[in-house]
Amino acid sequence: MTQILGFGGYVPERVMTNDDWAEIVDTSDEWITARTGIKERRFAAEDEATLDLAANAAEVAIKDAGLVAGDIGEIIVATDTPEVYTPDTASFLQHRLGCDNIPSYDLGGSGCAGFVQALDVARARIAFSPRNVLVVGVELISRLISWQERETCVLFGDGAGAVVVGPGESSPQLLDVVAGTDGSKTDILTLSTGGTRDPFTVETAASGAHQHLTMNGREVFKQAVGRMSEAVAEVLEHVGGTIEDVKLVIPHQANKRIIDAVGKKLGLREGQAFVNVDKFGNTGSASVPLALWQARDQGRIVEGDLVVLTAFGAGFHWAAAAIRF
Ligand SMILES: CC(C)(COP(=O)(O)OP(=O)(O)OC[C@H]1O[C@@H](n2cnc3c(N)ncnc32)[C@H](O)[C@@H]1OP(=O)(O)O)[C@@H](O)C(=O)NCCC(=O)NCCS
Repeated sequence: MTQILGFGGYVPERVMTNDDWAEIVDTSDEWITARTGIKERRFAAEDEATLDLAANAAEVAIKDAGLVAGDIGEIIVATDTPEVYTPDTASFLQHRLGCDNIPSYDLGGSGCAGFVQALDVARARIAFSPRNVLVVGVELISRLISWQERETCVLFGDGAGAVVVGPGESSPQLLDVVAGTDGSKTDILTLSTGGTRDPFTVETAASGAHQHLTMNGREVFKQAVGRMSEAVAEVLEHVGGTIEDVKLVIPHQANKRIIDAVGKKLGLREGQAFVNVDKFGNTGSASVPLALWQARDQGRIVEGDLVVLTAFGAGFHWAAAAIRF
């Protein structure tokens, strides 16, 4: 049995509105709002990096669990925008939090599905060897993608979310997680320069290719709607629930139109899907834990509620989790 012991989140103070973007690239508040539902997002301050965002969210979650750093037995950080290339962000986080020599590692490259995948890993680790696992989703996307490419730059925001999970019979219970990958679709969302296939060079830097996020927006949209809807149905089948039993669906916050389309496909009631993409944009692997933390704090979830998380990301990955509060 896996219990969620604490929830946390953090967003940087700096607000970047659609009008702010319109001063930098050829776009408008009308276009961004109509196509995505995003009105503003948060961007990290110059002196903040991924570790700072992750540590802030982690500290909130550990405190919320009524624990201290010494009670954490393992750390998993889901991120595509790490503190440095090597070693992983989890190593820095372990030291910053003051957790003693515990296993700590990143789950990287899964895009926005990373946090829910990490939850799946965490529950398997707990079943094998009971311990409290800190699971963090963090992204500082504004620093690693091009600020000149209007097709992608307006979509994203920075932030972090975290949970502490551990062995236990009480609520909230992590009932089940499902996940999948279709590796034939690696090309629909990729930042391909900088790896061994296409190493970073002076020419790369000059051309800006290392910040060029290639995205087939329409295909990503289609895959996102199909895969998230299927994942929600699958996890509900596993736990013996129906969509009517669900109090709140917390989908990855990429685009309000994607959330609406998932809602239509699943036959969701008005307000049954949690939405904060208008305030934070797409915060990658931080989006689901950030939304979960907010939904709990806003009183949208109470004892006894069935909540379903679902996400998709570059890979192409998808996942869903069912939680009984
Ligand atoms: C990206 C997305 C918002 C585009 O919406 P869309 O309805 O597919 O857009 P369309 O293809 O109809 O329109 C594209 C047009 O808008 C233009 N455009 C793109 N970005 C723009 C912007 N920020 N401002 C103004 N115009 C923009 C394009 O240049 C193109 O112009 P053209 O028709 O003259 O060639 C949408 O496809 C989407 O959200 N996809 C999923 C993306 C996602 O979630 N990615 C992250 C995954 S983790």
